[in-house]
Amino acid sequence: MSNNKIKLGFVGGGNDSLIGVLHKVAAVMFDQYEIVGGVFSSNQDINKSTAIDLGLDLSRVYNNYEEMAEVESGLDANTKIEAVCILTPNFLHFPMAKIFLQNGFHVICEKPLSISLKEALELKEIKQSKNLVFAVTHTYTGYPMIRQMTRMISENIIGDIQRVDSTYFQGWINDIIHDKDKRSSTWRLNPDVSGISSCLADIGTHAFNMLELVCGMKVKKILADLNNLYDDNPLDIDVSVLVRMENGCKGTIRSTQIATGLENNLNISVYGSKGSLSWEQENPNYLYYHTSNKPLQVLKPGHLYNSDLSLDGTKLPAGHPEGIFDAMGNIYRGVARAIKDEKNEIGEFPTIDEGVRGMEFIEKAVESNKNGNIWMELDS
Ligand SMILES: NC(=O)c1ccc[n+]([C@@H]2O[C@H](COP(=O)([O-])OP(=O)(O)OC[C@H]3O[C@@H](n4cnc5c(N)ncnc54)[C@H](O)[C@@H]3O)[C@@H](O)[C@H]2O)c1
Repeated sequence: MSNNKIKLGFVGGGNDSLIGVLHKVAAVMFDQYEIVGGVFSSNQDINKSTAIDLGLDLSRVYNNYEEMAEVESGLDANTKIEAVCILTPNFLHFPMAKIFLQNGFHVICEKPLSISLKEALELKEIKQSKNLVFAVTHTYTGYPMIRQMTRMISENIIGDIQRVDSTYFQGWINDIIHDKDKRSSTWRLNPDVSGISSCLADIGTHAFNMLELVCGMKVKKILADLNNLYDDNPLDIDVSVLVRMENGCKGTIRSTQIATGLENNLNISVYGSKGSLSWEQENPNYLYYHTSNKPLQVLKPGHLYNSDLSLDGTKLPAGHPEGIFDAMGNIYRGVARAIKDEKNEIGEFPTIDEGVRGMEFIEKAVESNKNGNIWMELDS
């Protein structure tokens, strides 16, 4: 039976993946999408078993993405996949997104958008020429208190921004990096699969994206210091970046995968002339608002003092904790509104522009480090 749900195809995200479950849940959260097929894994057994678990018609499960693009674009409009989510390792994002855009599919792509700025700009050009929707899933932007933080800064509640600090600290690579065999076999440290960066591309881009989003302002210049820890490890696993924002204010972006014992500590603080706001991903339902002469205020989701967009991203009455699945669900809902040409606000989902900025950040940071930690301008 036909319905008005957007027909969604998956590439990657099989039962062998980390991020697949997040997209599967997020896509169906607001009854906007129906998962109808895809290539869920490079392993054909897992590809098929993932589809069986989802209860899919196996004729819509393909051996590879080229076959999927070709067959699906030939199906009738009521049947065929309309949007594709790309959840594979980084080097595949570009060829996959390119073929699906060229064949008229909307794309929801994991970050980093590609493995070079050149590829990212090419995708942007194709997306524009085809007039399709393209989202890059910087998941954390979907949290209600990030939406509220963005609004409060845009309304000048904390005054002029005078210092920023965005960090993403993890420790998981510690178990791998000190073992020569392990460090040479993980895809995240393989430049052919990961691109020119590990830590910057994987989590530094989240910290960068978050900073530009909440400040409503671009990062103008960066100076990066990258750490690979071992000479035989080709990619960064620990990064410190000095930043200058558009308004001249100074700050830092720091990301690391060797903060032993830490999990997903994405923290952002923006210090203004009248007050400061801080948010921590591991406690996402609290937004800390500091001023000089009043006690600390802790803002929470679901209350009427929040912005419309923040309230739009809260499903349950205040006090019922929502988390990362809900944040990704909010992004999927924003994308659905854009695909259906319904009213949607800027900030409902990260677009290809954010993906392009992320790639420029990675490339310029690597260049800055390579040339002796010099200042680099970002101009995309
Ligand atoms: N938004 C976030 O917060 C977040 C978090 C984790 C990962 N990611 C991103 O998601 C992507 C995937 O990361 P992951 O950790 O899930 O990786 P993973 O290695 O756990 O899973 C990769 C998946 O892609 C499949 N795959 C590989 N080659 C394929 C091909 N040619 N065709 C179809 N499927 C193929 C694998 O079988 C697997 O299912 C990466 O780009 C990563 O940066 C984003």
